[in-house]
Amino acid sequence: MISSEVRTIEWRDGRVIMIDQRLLPAVETYVTCSTWEEVAEAISTMVIRGAPAIGVAAAMGVALAARTVAFTESGAAPAMYSALQAATKGLFATRPTAYNLGWALEQMRTVWEGAVGDPRETARALERRALEIMGGDVDSCRQIGEYGADLIVGRPAGGGGPATAPLIPAAPCFDDGPRILTHCNAGALATAGYGTALGVIRSSFARDRRLRVLADETRPLLQGARLTAWELKRDGIPVEIITDSMAGFYLGRGEVSHVVVGADRITANGDTANKIGTYAVSVLAREHGVPFLVAAPFSTIDLSLEDGSLIPIEEREATEVTTLGGNRLTPEGVGVRNPAFDVTPASHISAIITEGGIAFPPYRQSLAALACNTEGGCP
Ligand code: MRU
Repeated sequence: MISSEVRTIEWRDGRVIMIDQRLLPAVETYVTCSTWEEVAEAISTMVIRGAPAIGVAAAMGVALAARTVAFTESGAAPAMYSALQAATKGLFATRPTAYNLGWALEQMRTVWEGAVGDPRETARALERRALEIMGGDVDSCRQIGEYGADLIVGRPAGGGGPATAPLIPAAPCFDDGPRILTHCNAGALATAGYGTALGVIRSSFARDRRLRVLADETRPLLQGARLTAWELKRDGIPVEIITDSMAGFYLGRGEVSHVVVGADRITANGDTANKIGTYAVSVLAREHGVPFLVAAPFSTIDLSLEDGSLIPIEEREATEVTTLGGNRLTPEGVGVRNPAFDVTPASHISAIITEGGIAFPPYRQSLAALACNTEGGCP
């Protein structure tokens, strides 16, 4: 098993410690948050990013809010209730697209709304729930990795079962080991550990060491060039960075066997919001007959939305586009658009890999059926 020792986020002695993803790979440094407001700031400014990691951070932010009231302020139950309401609202407002954020806050709300009695006990219960959400995310990523490897390389003989062939055949002109193209960073850094898309890559590599990765650099914030490359290199998984505009070149030449990406929000029909540029890759994959796989936990799946047109798309600051490493790229005063995500239609997606199993089209039925087998229950 490929380990991934990256510590994205930790709860230590009543504080939240996060690796500062804005500075990687040049500097490995950590940010410490003692209040929910500091966690909200860390999410907004992308110290921590990636849908599942944002959810874990938000849960810990709520636990910090409870702790502040229970142990250092008045400690009265009404004060606790209003502090938790304010923290939940403030954390929810940080980034609108990732469904995991609202999902985690709802998990926490279930604990504090039902709490009666000693606020200190409520604070401890919230801390326990936040840690469960963190641990549950790592478990989900590992399970997603194993299901994804079944799709891409099949199961080796042994381990209690017979060898199996890959569930999804590679692109027709491909006869080498898996050559996976990914976009953005859906790795250990984007989750509590192991990763979703990179979890699939890690588990697949453990079964077939010929696997190689092409990583889109992912403008404007370069999550692929900075973070995916950093993680995979640490694990010894061969990776080459390409600029986003090179993806079509390699897909067109038959040098990609599968595309694997993460997700920020998946709607009931399978439409998937992910990092800006994912949609363009999906069109190219479809054109060239390359399987396009989405890897995400159930905490990313929003069955309350019918389709992707209803997903709120975050627009970020113009300076992310107009500057690079602090240097201005564009003329002063030029207009800028900067949507952080786009939506890939379900019709472009070959399979959605979850911790509860693999969904195939039509997704409205397959996702609902998988949901019935998870903790969250049937829609
Ligand atoms: O803006 P970011 O860096 O938070 O966007 C991250 C992505 O789009 C990831 O692909 C997605 O959150 C999945 S992470 C497992």
